Amino acid sequence: MTLLSVRDLTVTLMTGSGPADAVRNLSFDIERGQILGIAGESGSGKTMTALSIMGLLPYKGKASGSINFDGEELVGFKPKDFRRVRGKDVAMIFQDPMTSLHPMLTIETQLTEHLRHHRKVSRAEARARALELLDTVKIPDPETALKAHPSQFSGGMRQRIAIAMALACQPKLLIADEPTTALDVTVQAGILKLLDELRKSQNLSVIVITHDLGVLSALTDRLMIMYAGAEVESGPTSQVLTRPRHPYTQGLIDALPDSEAHGKRLIAIEGMPPELGKFPSGCAFHTRCSFARNECKSGTPNKVDIDGTRRIFCTVDPFDTPAGVNR
Ligand SMILES: Nc1ncnc2c1ncn2[C@@H]1O[C@H](COP(=O)(O)OP(=O)(O)OP(=O)(O)O)[C@@H](O)[C@H]1O
Ligand code: SF4
Ligand SMILES: [Mg+2]
Repeated sequence: MTLLSVRDLTVTLMTGSGPADAVRNLSFDIERGQILGIAGESGSGKTMTALSIMGLLPYKGKASGSINFDGEELVGFKPKDFRRVRGKDVAMIFQDPMTSLHPMLTIETQLTEHLRHHRKVSRAEARARALELLDTVKIPDPETALKAHPSQFSGGMRQRIAIAMALACQPKLLIADEPTTALDVTVQAGILKLLDELRKSQNLSVIVITHDLGVLSALTDRLMIMYAGAEVESGPTSQVLTRPRHPYTQGLIDALPDSEAHGKRLIAIEGMPPELGKFPSGCAFHTRCSFARNECKSGTPNKVDIDGTRRIFCTVDPFDTPAGVNR
């Protein structure tokens, strides 16, 4: 059952040199209980995609296209409608958990006020629910934790509390933007395991945004790779990561520290991703792609559907060979 259906989403931001599209014609779906990973280098439009679903685009930012969430169209939503949905049906956690936590208030005050803001519950009911939430995110000794301030917890524990806050009103969709980037590897693994458990126990749909393909490999069902605001490849995670079809995806995988391809690099992604407002014409990746031909420099890259579950946007499709399939 589809929970979120995004079609031709374009996000236009105001830059010093006028309006520019940070997200371009993006389309994707998320089923209930599914985890979608979104990856791509810095500036590829991952966060703007998330913020458009939350109704939190920067000043003068505008979304067009369609974002259908649980039967409601969010493009064109008024701020008051977004306030109704945000935090309740859709919640977001960030790289820095302090984005969602107040440094001066106890965990109890923050969790219970958040609950009482969205739901008509008594103080005692809110407290009981807060304890339950802390237990769900595996905070040891929830009674003591309620009385503490965020600064008394480690980064990993704070992220768990931010997840508890996000889960408070039983959202249908949780968006996690670089949730583990600031954490060390062991703590990172614990948070990812928690997200996976929550998806199963609460039928939660999750979008996980990251630079790090390694983070996504074990956790996500589907993966979408973005470059310069647009999708370049998507499909079931295991297939995209083991048999990438787009040159950019292949480059990202080669760049992973423990990649099998490391040392015998097929493609190095040289250069930097383009700045907003300066995306190259045609396939925006053509300035860095070792397979680029003249026809890549103009027009829109061909959409190539693969096996009914995957697709790439590439005019050349250089890995569409028997050898490519067995790479
Ligand atoms: N308030 C803003 N006004 C104008 N442009 C912005 C604003 N915020 C971000 N941008 C630009 O929008 C583009 C997309 O940004 P976005 O934050 O979505 O990238 P990202 O993929 O999340 O990158 P990162 O991995 O660094 O978080 C970038 O070029 C960024 O510089
Ligand atoms: S369309 Fe051309 S430039 Fe773009 S990824 Fe494919 S081969 Fe490379
Ligand atoms: Mg971002």
